[in-house]
Amino acid sequence: MKILDFRSDTVTKPTPEMRDAMAKAEVGDDVYGEDPSVNRLQELSAEMTGKEAGLFIPSGTMGNLSAVLAHCQRGDEVIMGNLAHLFLYEAGSIAAVGGVQPHTIPNQDDATLNLEDIERAIRPKDAHFPQTKLITIENTQNKCGGQSISADYTDQVGELAKKHDLKLHIDGARIFNAAADQRVSAKDLVAAADSVTFCLSKGLGAPVGSVLCGSKEFIVKAHRMRKQLGGGMRQAGIIAAAGIYALENNVERLYEDHARARRLTELVKGIDGIDFHTQNTNMTYFAVKEETGLTSDQFLQKIKQLGLLAGVEVSGRFRMVTHIWITDADIKKAAEIMRQVLN
Ligand SMILES: Cc1ncc(COP(=O)(O)O)c(C=O)c1O
Repeated sequence: MKILDFRSDTVTKPTPEMRDAMAKAEVGDDVYGEDPSVNRLQELSAEMTGKEAGLFIPSGTMGNLSAVLAHCQRGDEVIMGNLAHLFLYEAGSIAAVGGVQPHTIPNQDDATLNLEDIERAIRPKDAHFPQTKLITIENTQNKCGGQSISADYTDQVGELAKKHDLKLHIDGARIFNAAADQRVSAKDLVAAADSVTFCLSKGLGAPVGSVLCGSKEFIVKAHRMRKQLGGGMRQAGIIAAAGIYALENNVERLYEDHARARRLTELVKGIDGIDFHTQNTNMTYFAVKEETGLTSDQFLQKIKQLGLLAGVEVSGRFRMVTHIWITDADIKKAAEIMRQVLN
């Protein structure tokens, strides 16, 4: 039985073409800066985000943490959304490792942070207070249902940051999904930011890795932070080659994932017993109606027995995420399985 895995775009495995690129990768010792594939990935990433330099990092979490550590000192504060991945799902890393405090303000319904809220959260320069150093936003915003945020809004946050002598970091784990959704380049979406991380291991289909981009000076600092965190890698060209393949071949196709998420939504919306919540980029959120007599967990167990996996949410909703391994036929089959279970 083919398992239809819609839990997340992180479940993607490398395609045969990507594995081929990995097998043929030229490698060297990246701690000595001598891995040509890592160097190429970093250059390509910098080019695609319009920044001076890039740094290959083992994970999105380490990318965000390295960025915060490079921008801030102990006792500093970072303004972020209360639904930011960095706040909710990164094990309190910036506080635990860096002594940096998150200052959360509410993510609005459209995933943005209210500009007045940001301005109010900036601490006065006074010995009593933590010092605000950084603002972070997330694009696409995972916990806000995968919504993308516009370049125009990001530019406004960038202006605000400059006005107050702060830095702006974007957690762009899915920045290329945001670019596809906004119909702009990733470069435009992050132009106002001092740093951005994006993940190769999600919709782009690589098995591992993220890239942190920013100015040359910033990347020198972040490189040291990555080393302190144990993220210096040796013949990492094997995995960097997957990243290069992903950037060269899997960015343009993200529109297809979004179209499939819309198609899935249309099909599933029509099933009695399902409540539709939101659909943005490659993520769709549903819930099972009470009248079905099934809890979300029971429903997810039943579809699992038929080979369909969806992501559990604490809210009782469930999430279905499209990605490179999900075909048009899989979308149809997924809707059929859900219909069958609820009939
Ligand atoms: C928005 C966002 N940021 C950061 C991360 C962290 O990435 P990683 O799992 O590679 O540490 C994720 C992972 O799902 C994410 O969704």
